[in-house]
Amino acid sequence: MLWLQRERRQGELFGQDGKYAFAADVLSPNRFVVSALVSHFDQILSDAQAAFAAAADAPALEQAKARFLGKSGSLTELLKGLGKLDPDARRTAGAEINQCKSAVEAALEARRDALRSAQLETQLRAEALDVSLPGRGMGVGGLHPVNRTLERVESLFRSIGFEVADGPEIEGDWHNFTALNTPENHPARSMHDTFYLQDAPGVLLRTHTSPVQIRSMQAHAERYANASVMPELRIIAPGRVYRVDSDATHSPMFHQVEGLWIGENISFAGLKGVIIDFLKRFFETDELQVRFRPSFFPFTEPSAEIDFAFMSGPNKGRWLEIAGCGMVHPNVLKNGGMDSQRYTGFAFGMGLDRLTMLRYGINDLRLFFENDLRFLTQFN
Ligand code: PHE
Repeated sequence: MLWLQRERRQGELFGQDGKYAFAADVLSPNRFVVSALVSHFDQILSDAQAAFAAAADAPALEQAKARFLGKSGSLTELLKGLGKLDPDARRTAGAEINQCKSAVEAALEARRDALRSAQLETQLRAEALDVSLPGRGMGVGGLHPVNRTLERVESLFRSIGFEVADGPEIEGDWHNFTALNTPENHPARSMHDTFYLQDAPGVLLRTHTSPVQIRSMQAHAERYANASVMPELRIIAPGRVYRVDSDATHSPMFHQVEGLWIGENISFAGLKGVIIDFLKRFFETDELQVRFRPSFFPFTEPSAEIDFAFMSGPNKGRWLEIAGCGMVHPNVLKNGGMDSQRYTGFAFGMGLDRLTMLRYGINDLRLFFENDLRFLTQFN
């Protein structure tokens, strides 16, 4: 009777899972049941191994673990029940349970390792880099096409002994007009054509690079004031200029390059030679016709517009105006501090944007100032 009661109690203790219900029998305090106990643990271990193997990821594995090693897991329940056994059986069963527990824990750890390395493997595959691919270079900037033209113009003129001069973009009325022999009533001086600074009378954005003629002559004359001979003055002066003008071929800001050659016996023939030679070298063709068309500028006399025509290519036969030029007016020489009896000179002013448009076949000036990389990268 007592035995049955005890069995039932143990059945209650160990039988909650249903599956392991016969624990009640196997924990009976005799040798026979201990060996049955061992096979029972074998069952728990193989169940645990199967459950762990079936767990596809870490959270699933932790849940599977709870079924065996958790607070109310089957092994924990068995351990709790040990206290109810006789000391002899408790020792044997305890050792067996612990051995089983270690085995289950080892299986758990093994599965954890496997899942970890599988996860690492997947991650590595997802983040795989093909180290044999060529690198992606840093974006390299390039020169603006107008700057390319500028550098080309500078090197061509340097090669025939010209220096590069500079002058301010904010100019005085005297340098921009008066010193250049431009009368008070000349239309270029009107508000329609020139940007004046509102609160500074007589101050404006230079309308051409010609004021650099005056500044360079003055500096040159001053430098050689006490010398017995004055070396020739040969400069080009590239830069930004401003006019009240805006359409496909005119921009309120554009670029010019001024040229000036002062010395004794400087002639119009010299001017023609320099210009024609320059244009042929700039456009890299001898098949270029250049004409000097009589014109008027207050600061040169005689004056001409320079036109040129392509003999081949898409622009074949078309005359294009490229520059203004002429022999420096004696009044201008005087204003620059030069002896107008002794020296003569020629000057020219070319449109750098124009030169660039012609060289690359660009038909809209505004493209230069829109900063569209699709346009600009074509010149790199
Ligand atoms: N400054 C003139 C212009 O802007 C060009 C020019 C320069 C003409 C030098 C003659 C001599 O139109």
